[in-house]
Amino acid sequence: MSSGKTEILVQFQKARAASRRLAAPLTDADATVQSMPDASPAKWHLAHTTWFFEAMVLEPFSRSYRVFDPNFNFLFNSYYETLGARQPRPRRGMLTRPTLEQIHAYRDHVDAAIEDLLRRETSDRVAASIELGCHHEQQHQELLLTDILHLFAQNPLRPAYLDPAPDAGGAEPTAMAYENFAGGIAESGAGDEGFAFDCERPRRRVLIEPYRLADRLVTNGEWMEFIADDGYRQPLLWLSEGWAKCLDGQWSAPLYWEERDGEFWTMTLSGFQRVDPAAPAVHISFFEADAFARWSNRRLPTEAEWERAAEPLDVEGNFVESGLMRPSPATAGQNGLRQMFGDVWEWTCSPFSPYPRFRPAEGAAGEYNGKFMCGQFVLRGGSCATPQSHMRATYRNFFPPDARWQFSGVRLAGDADDDRR
Ligand SMILES: [Fe+2]
Repeated sequence: MSSGKTEILVQFQKARAASRRLAAPLTDADATVQSMPDASPAKWHLAHTTWFFEAMVLEPFSRSYRVFDPNFNFLFNSYYETLGARQPRPRRGMLTRPTLEQIHAYRDHVDAAIEDLLRRETSDRVAASIELGCHHEQQHQELLLTDILHLFAQNPLRPAYLDPAPDAGGAEPTAMAYENFAGGIAESGAGDEGFAFDCERPRRRVLIEPYRLADRLVTNGEWMEFIADDGYRQPLLWLSEGWAKCLDGQWSAPLYWEERDGEFWTMTLSGFQRVDPAAPAVHISFFEADAFARWSNRRLPTEAEWERAAEPLDVEGNFVESGLMRPSPATAGQNGLRQMFGDVWEWTCSPFSPYPRFRPAEGAAGEYNGKFMCGQFVLRGGSCATPQSHMRATYRNFFPPDARWQFSGVRLAGDADDDRR
């Protein structure tokens, strides 16, 4: 086997094992229930990522492959119109059968077939499809965690996914400073080398005006000040659509926050915990992030501004591998930009739209990103639920502006000549 194929095999085995590890603490019931239409059951994530390899790699490229169960294409296709009809997304929680055990047997079946295919002589196209499947699996690992958190938050017992729960809190909040960046023509987007999703390409030139970027994320303590200053009750801080969502959803704090005896508590993967004022605010929608920035006399960064600042940095931070699975306070006494990678996804003010000369991937994989380039905003940097090897400076995540259940937060930006406050 060539070294490139050995690398893909190792990547495949690691990605598949990581999903199993994340699902290990879950019972069949935990893995089956769907807490809202936007969230999927863990069992569905485990099966859908497996289906992706079956539909995108084995069926097109392996003549000897036998489908595990012909019904699974309907059950576990997510949104690929070219691959047939499917179970409606809001009804994924109806799938009490197949059992979790059967899904693990499905995973074993597909794993063996992919490993067999990779050991035989295969084309670069097969290797590229398997690599795409690995990155897809990592995306769903994060979704599995965010969806379990949402599910457990609905349970009055407030169960902890992580056991034992590590202690939170105690760190002193560090002051927020700004880094200045000169204007000019910058390059952004992925080059031709290495893995990137189609939406990160092609690399493009972009005109950037002089700007500044906060050296750390907005904290829970700062969010409490926004709440205390009636940030959720001042329509002039909000975009019209955001204000309507705020009223309709009765938003008064980040998702999962609850006030008890004058203190804020929140749901985490370690169970119900006191809100740590020094930790980054999380489970914030774009609309809230935008209102908070306006209240601060600042704005959200554009994705090109964020990427330009992140490109020289190492991709290091509080990722899922830390085992913490919640954002942690910025390190004190450190110069330069902190928390750019990991902790929370950072909302940008950039709509998710194609770069100039964007071409979707060929075949069914062309439905992966391009068709979602409407009505969503870009988030950057990864979170405490993202695998580290999944992240890079050019990575573009995207969610609708009212989405709150992801590990999403805020880094403030401003124009270089704006000296308000
Ligand atoms: Fe998917």
